[in-house]
Amino acid sequence: MEDFKNLPDYGCWLKYDLLENELFRRRYQGRLQTISLYENGSLTPAIRTELLRGIGGLLGSEPAVLPPSAAASVRVIRAAEAGDVLGPEGYQLRVEDQDSLEVVITGAGERGCLYGTFAFLRLLQMGEIKGGFHRTEVPAMPLRMINHWDNLDGTIERGYAGRSIFFRDHELCRDLDRVRDYARLLASVGINSVVVNNVNVHAAETQLVASRLEMVQTLAGIFREYGLRVFLSINYASPLEFGLDSADPLDVAVRSWWKERVEVLYAEIPDLGGFLVKADSENRPGPFTYGRSQADGANMLGEALAPFGGVLIWRCFVYNCQQDWRDKKTDRARAAYDYFKPLDGQFRENVILQIKNGPMDFQVREPVSPLFGAMEATKQIVELQITQEYTGQQRHLCYLVPQWKEILDFDTYAQGPGSTVAKVVSGGMAGVVNVGDDPNWTGHTLAQANLYGYGRLAWDPRLQAEQITEEWITLTFGHDLQIHQTIGQMLLSSWEVYENYTTPLGIGWMCNPNHHFGPNVDGYEYSKWGTYHRADHFGIGVDRTVRNGTGFAGQYRPENAKMYESMESCPQELLLFFHRVPYTYRLKTGKTLIQHIYDTHFLGVKQVQGLISAWTSIQGRIHEHTYLHVLDRLEEQLLHAMEWRDVINTYFYRISRIEDQHNREIHS
Ligand code: GCU
Repeated sequence: MEDFKNLPDYGCWLKYDLLENELFRRRYQGRLQTISLYENGSLTPAIRTELLRGIGGLLGSEPAVLPPSAAASVRVIRAAEAGDVLGPEGYQLRVEDQDSLEVVITGAGERGCLYGTFAFLRLLQMGEIKGGFHRTEVPAMPLRMINHWDNLDGTIERGYAGRSIFFRDHELCRDLDRVRDYARLLASVGINSVVVNNVNVHAAETQLVASRLEMVQTLAGIFREYGLRVFLSINYASPLEFGLDSADPLDVAVRSWWKERVEVLYAEIPDLGGFLVKADSENRPGPFTYGRSQADGANMLGEALAPFGGVLIWRCFVYNCQQDWRDKKTDRARAAYDYFKPLDGQFRENVILQIKNGPMDFQVREPVSPLFGAMEATKQIVELQITQEYTGQQRHLCYLVPQWKEILDFDTYAQGPGSTVAKVVSGGMAGVVNVGDDPNWTGHTLAQANLYGYGRLAWDPRLQAEQITEEWITLTFGHDLQIHQTIGQMLLSSWEVYENYTTPLGIGWMCNPNHHFGPNVDGYEYSKWGTYHRADHFGIGVDRTVRNGTGFAGQYRPENAKMYESMESCPQELLLFFHRVPYTYRLKTGKTLIQHIYDTHFLGVKQVQGLISAWTSIQGRIHEHTYLHVLDRLEEQLLHAMEWRDVINTYFYRISRIEDQHNREIHS
């Protein structure tokens, strides 16, 4: 095994360190010493290995494996008759005997058994496995996906944790065991699908559906061991690369080209999940070239996949990326709704629309996309960004579970009150992943919590951020109370801290073009990307009201449209997204807008200093390697936070010439 695999961070939340807590030891000592499993399943090896590894690690001795139906102390049973309640992926977990702790994990499908096994090991560490315990869990969403933006040369678009764990120099990586370890990590939180390549499909990656098919086959084989299905991002214009003179979705030759391709793919990979497509987006080809609609493009591919049970996922990230900044009528925020809403009802049964959480692009703060719930006859999934493109690139601590909770809990009113995003995206969730070949997978060790939290929310969006955080800390660092309080507090405050010293009140961007790291207030102000803050001497913000602005606020259902339309009822954190506001405007806190900007930026830096002292208070309680690594990142974060504070405050001081009430140092 490579050296880094022995480091504590490599194991993430599946380390299964010996339970040292006295209470646990007494509760579990001498128990859980035998296991039995159903026979001949494709996932039985994974389940068996996990139980041996998990119980062995946590309790200090590996259990004995008894014959399949033997009355072992941990039994994994496959019971097809439970399918009505559990579906293919749900499980039931019971502790039957008070004294000897007889654990029974039942799934109707194999994946249910696997997820139940991981849940049992998690709950064991959480101290919940005791006499009388009984739980039935069924995932809230059918597709719980990870999207990789990995390229065949080994680079990762918006990757902040090293290079791809799949591809290197146009071949598969040599260390495919690492892919297996990764599949295990994903399955442990209930992820069931993975798109292995970048949505921007260039010439080399286009070959994945043709001459490089064996690469996909190999990856699919490894992921299959943990019940995951592989999807491919495809190039909409592939037919052109293979000799056709068109990619028109209504052209018979194009349609049959795709059908043949799909047949070949499924002959080699019968459980292929399907395709993910970025079309007519940021200069990628699409059906618009041929005067066809997004539905025409998606349906052509959906039709080709349908006979094999394949799913076609079509992204709604379609907007004009050639905008003239002088044009104030065009509003990028409106684009997805304007393009897709009129197509409701036109998509095939096996087509799902993948919609980014906000109308812009994964900013630290955005409203929820009004497209959620706006298309009653169309399946939708929400796309979140686990990789921290605009949220500190895994050099800053920014735990995103609280942000995702707000998004999932947002009430769209699609079918009356209570129609949260979590309910309307019944298709599932997709997350652009933060993983690379760094020894700790995610660049910043604490960013592992984002991957964990994403999976847990996709399984059950009703989980509270605090619970997920508590679980992750327990599984990663054990039971030390001080560690729990410190890291819990650090994680749960970090999104707000990051927001404090970066862009204020929903305005977004203000970062360096292209790589998107570090402050640059006007970095995108005179560009074609449609992401403007429009600050001048008097105020800042984009008027997106129906009355005077771009009308974006009117894309929401009346309850939300009304809330956003007025400055008074618009949630403060989104004020500058929806309104153009004078610096002297008084916020609900009683502060003026400019004072709020100054204060949050001074505060943000103080809060990062607070993160550092919190972290140093647990020195000696966690592995030194992890301690030093995180400390290093936090110190870097402090320098960057100071840079953000000074650039933003100076910009607004120079442009407004309004003094800070507290006379702090602002460089003029
Ligand atoms: C962002 C990101 C790109 C990515 C795009 C997308 O704009 O910066 O790298 O390709 O989103 O989601 O397609």
